[in-house]
Amino acid sequence: MYQALYRQWRPMSFAELVGQEHVARTLQNALEQERLAHAYLFCGPRGTGKTSVARILARAINCKVGPAREPCNLCAACLGIQAGRVIDVLEIDAASNRGIDDIRELREKVRYAPVEVRYKVAIIDEVHMLSQEAFNALLKTLEDPPSRVLFVLATTEPHKLPATIVSRCQRLDFHLIGITEIAERLRAVAQLANRTISEDAVYLLAEEANGGLRDALSLLEQVLAYCPAEVAQEDVLAVLGAVGRDIFHALTEAFMRRDLSAALFLLDDVATGGKDLHHFTQQAVRYYRDLMVVLACGTEAERLGIGPDWVQPLTKQAEALGMGTIGAILAELHGLLAEVRWATRPRLLWELTLFRLFLSGGEVAQRALEPAGMTPQAVSPGKSRPEQLAAAPGKVQPLPSLTRMWPRVMELLKKESIKTHALLLSGDVGFRDAMTLEVRYEAQIHCEMMDSPENKRPLKAVLKEVFGTELAICCVKVANGIGSLTIEKDPEEMFSSAVEIFHGQVIDESNR
Ligand SMILES: Nc1ncnc2c1ncn2[C@@H]1O[C@H](COP(=O)(O)OP(=O)(O)O)[C@@H](O)[C@H]1O
Ligand SMILES: [Mg+2]
Ligand SMILES: [Zn+2]
Repeated sequence: MYQALYRQWRPMSFAELVGQEHVARTLQNALEQERLAHAYLFCGPRGTGKTSVARILARAINCKVGPAREPCNLCAACLGIQAGRVIDVLEIDAASNRGIDDIRELREKVRYAPVEVRYKVAIIDEVHMLSQEAFNALLKTLEDPPSRVLFVLATTEPHKLPATIVSRCQRLDFHLIGITEIAERLRAVAQLANRTISEDAVYLLAEEANGGLRDALSLLEQVLAYCPAEVAQEDVLAVLGAVGRDIFHALTEAFMRRDLSAALFLLDDVATGGKDLHHFTQQAVRYYRDLMVVLACGTEAERLGIGPDWVQPLTKQAEALGMGTIGAILAELHGLLAEVRWATRPRLLWELTLFRLFLSGGEVAQRALEPAGMTPQAVSPGKSRPEQLAAAPGKVQPLPSLTRMWPRVMELLKKESIKTHALLLSGDVGFRDAMTLEVRYEAQIHCEMMDSPENKRPLKAVLKEVFGTELAICCVKVANGIGSLTIEKDPEEMFSSAVEIFHGQVIDESNR
């Protein structure tokens, strides 16, 4: 049977784990001294080893020669757990088993002593997805844990867990894995698969994985399938739809010569080559981040994930540009990144950015570092959309073009939760400052509804997706008449939102 590469290469022991040494050490010491906690909470980004470690731990405490620092992976217990045959080791995915009944069932199962192995182990993945009642039920179990039961809760979003749950667990944080370590693993996996892959291809893959080893291996797999022979950087670029770093090197050279024409032709190559300009912008941000890193860290830069072949050319450019200009360009690119994704004409946005940067050097770009949003932005009629309230000057980074992004927020929100979408349409929306969305209602009940987790959660998720950062949501009840804050609204939208909020049905259309 075919198995995806990342499954084939699931680490089987703590020794095989890449990165996460602090996690391994804590657990191995506890295993050795038989002083394991009743419950562990594994937090960290996806694809960094949480599930893998939970399974290693389940074997290590139940191994015939254990509890030991490593499972033997040969005894009946290890093999049985590995194959998923041991009923004492349970894995549940809270994303699809969110309810109280699922947790009650789990509690039933862990109440009795283990039958096949030493410890029962309950692994709850994506635990933040549990419903409130399910959390309460889980909490009872954690407060009064049956003996010989080990809980492992895993989550990518620990901030969504009730504090009561967190405080009952020993928390272990999994970190993003460094480029150098990912590259090493990719090399090893390719070699064991008897494939040759060039160094720059390895680095490109490692870079694209953004710190997750699962993504790195999935990408490697795609590339290996795509090209039957030796893998070169071009193959990776073709599969990823990415461009080579040399483009950014050339763009930067053009910038230093103030050669706008050369830059526009480079951009033309990228756009007509069918590359996705959002991805291109991400790569540009990374390139300038790397320029900053080499300038700040010198020869240490390799440790922060700069490919060895690139340290020198990057250093040369970075020194010529200076930190101020690099920072300013980086800020400009970061703003561009947020806009380019949903822009109908991303290429034009890029051209405008190049134009501004080239004509003024770092000076125009410098302004991008100052807080934006002091002036009201142009609005299109007929849509609920944000206004700038008072912008807080100073420390917060400005979010670019809030108003322009708003239609996209509403579009995504409609898919995420039609109810929240409707509720938002019936309120007035503005930005209190760059990091806080304010929603105003005349009716207390609407205010409370919007303030509930049920409605805040989908809105937050969408805001994060669109703006690339967490925003706070603040619901405010305003006195009758929204007054100076009134926003004209599409009557059609208001009507349908009222119908949706009150779960109504249109009985008589004639009076509308
Ligand atoms: N720290 C790591 N060391 C080695 N391989 C890893 C690591 N993290 C992830 N992987 C690879 O990614 C796959 C998925 O990892 P997994 O443990 O399920 O991640 P998570 O549960 O954190 O999302 C594994 O099968 C393995 O191939
Ligand atoms: Mg997992
Ligand atoms: Zn064993």
